[in-house]
Amino acid sequence: MKRVFHTTIIMVDKFLLLIKLVMEIQQQFKVLLIWSNKTTHKESRFIYIPEFTGKPMMMMNVTDSGSGILLPVITNSTKASDKGSWEGQELGMSNTATLWVQSNFFCATALTVENLVEKDGDRRQAVALRVDSDKAVFYQVKVVGEQDTLLDNKGTHYFYQSYIQGSVDFICGQAKSLFHECVLYSIAEDSGAIAAHHRNSAEEDTGFSFVNCRIKGNGRILLGRAWGEYSTTTYSFCEMDDIINPIGWSDWNVPSRQQNAVFGEYQCYGKGSNRTGRVEWSKELSSEEAMPFLDTNYINGDQWLRLQ
Ligand SMILES: *[C@@H]1O[C@H](CO)[C@@H](O)[C@H](O)[C@H]1NC(C)=O
Ligand SMILES: *[C@@H]1O[C@H](CO)[C@@H](O)[C@H](O)[C@H]1NC(C)=O
Ligand SMILES: *[C@@H]1O[C@H](CO)[C@@H](O)[C@H](O)[C@H]1NC(C)=O
Ligand SMILES: *[C@@H]1O[C@H](CO)[C@@H](O)[C@H](O)[C@H]1NC(C)=O
Repeated sequence: MKRVFHTTIIMVDKFLLLIKLVMEIQQQFKVLLIWSNKTTHKESRFIYIPEFTGKPMMMMNVTDSGSGILLPVITNSTKASDKGSWEGQELGMSNTATLWVQSNFFCATALTVENLVEKDGDRRQAVALRVDSDKAVFYQVKVVGEQDTLLDNKGTHYFYQSYIQGSVDFICGQAKSLFHECVLYSIAEDSGAIAAHHRNSAEEDTGFSFVNCRIKGNGRILLGRAWGEYSTTTYSFCEMDDIINPIGWSDWNVPSRQQNAVFGEYQCYGKGSNRTGRVEWSKELSSEEAMPFLDTNYINGDQWLRLQ
């Protein structure tokens, strides 16, 4: 029996959160185990996260990434129109996640989470990763789907060097997240949108900040749509390929959202970054305005995030 171990340690809060990806190969039998010694007791439809007992918090089979390296891939293909177990009701978008994170201080790395929804199906909103917990880190994680791929629902999160793919509103939800050095990959056909940040009031302290990200792919796409009056999304130092719909941003057909939505761009480059055709209520940020969005202070990183 041959074993391959890969271990990642990330400092979180005062505690050392230890993540072990153990890939065990025995003939064709490949299993991923993830341990953590600081998790809260939560149950979800897809994963069971026990208190630290020495038992794995997640266990599933892994597949070959095609490059000869075994990378864990968590897969499902549940979509919003699928019927749930309750009186034949449709599941709805938020209940489709392949992986639903509900535990604070969750970290993941070297992992693919996908929702392989049928492209031509009805109501194909289909979440790959849903995050409802606080203080989560995703490092070199690949999130693959179509519409609503990443439901970044609640909490403060750090996505670092990750890859997120989709077509319509493929990063959506009410979280406050920093996306740093990520690839945002569009597979939109005629139209689509990268971000649909959901924020309804001035009091909510939430938003999506993209810094040093790369926008590419093959479908024409908007930078963001205002899901809620105070939707907040900024792109700083991002490279934008020639796939951005020149208007850039949408008020979701609710003109009042033009007043309070914060949609900004700061020192982006590449063909898609030309702001000539942008809706006039979006903003070219000044360096002073951009400052709060540019680093891990945006997600109060000094209080909980120490990367090593
Ligand atoms: C987690 O494990 C590390 C290393 O063994 C240890 O230093 C730390 O105190 C543990 N944290 C908790 C909350 O048990
Ligand atoms: C992994 O695959 C094997 C072989 O197909 C199967 O017997 C096993 O139950 C699977 N394990 C998990 C955790 O899905
Ligand atoms: C895929 O999702 C369905 C619910 O839509 C669930 O019943 C099934 O167990 C999931 N499959 C895996 C492998 O998690
Ligand atoms: C931006 O787009 C406008 C309108 O298409 C064009 O006239 C202008 O040359 C472009 N600017 C750059 C720097 O490419």
